[in-house]
Amino acid sequence: MKNILEAPFLQDMIEVTSNMYRLGWDERNGGNVSYLLKEEELKEYLDLNNIVRTIPLMGLYDTNFDISPLIGKYFIVTGTGKYFKNVKKDPETNLGIVRIAEDGKHIELLWGYKDGGRTTSEFPAHMMCHMARLKVDPNNRIVIHSHPTNTLAMNYVCPLEDKIFSHTLWQMSTECIVVFPEGVGVLPWMLCGTKEIGEATAKKMQDYRLVIWGLHGVYASGKDMDETFGLIETVEKAATIYNLIGSRKIINTITNDNLKEIANYFKVNYRKEFLD
Ligand code: 13P
Ligand code: ZN
Repeated sequence: MKNILEAPFLQDMIEVTSNMYRLGWDERNGGNVSYLLKEEELKEYLDLNNIVRTIPLMGLYDTNFDISPLIGKYFIVTGTGKYFKNVKKDPETNLGIVRIAEDGKHIELLWGYKDGGRTTSEFPAHMMCHMARLKVDPNNRIVIHSHPTNTLAMNYVCPLEDKIFSHTLWQMSTECIVVFPEGVGVLPWMLCGTKEIGEATAKKMQDYRLVIWGLHGVYASGKDMDETFGLIETVEKAATIYNLIGSRKIINTITNDNLKEIANYFKVNYRKEFLD
């Protein structure tokens, strides 16, 4: 068996959580990451018949939702209550590798959560997002939840509505419409860790790779860590510019015609109704 600590997917988890912590997006235990793994890549590192523990399917509390499309799938996931700043120095305590059990009501721990821990309290939302994104993009593998500072600050002053929020972000930096031409989905404040917020997020994920959780943070999905992290990074940069402008008088802007010109030049399929 190869050394799992050297596995590229584990190194990706360490790198992304370290970066998110360094950028101040994920204080304390804030944020969580899940990464869909391929059986072929995992079996080089782990005996997949060796189940360390079986854990009920849960968020903060027991949760019942239809996870059947993911039965038998493998994920590496950050642990609940775990601090991103500690992932690098102790991956085996702060991360876990799980398989969705045959009964669709449990997960099987194959590695990690060494101190008796378990998957993030946002596991239902993560799994529902994976299911939603896999339907529109079979290559989707990552879901990241984070609390990026400027994006969160923007939530208090910009209407929590898909079109207005997306259009405002697009106007804050020329490349935004190229990076997320579909815009961002926005949810009102909802109780986190619940099946309800998971369902609402997954519904938005049918149309968007990015979903803002009103007054809480952001969810992003993508085919790899760079794409997914890059989506949050780009939104956070735009939100930073928005906050730097603050209530100062705007005398220059990126017009709708400019946005259309960028989208057409870069050949991206932007959400047309957001530029009406
Ligand atoms: P966990 O520690 O359970 O991952 O929760 C962090 C968080 O950001 C909740 O929304
Ligand atoms: Zn959170």
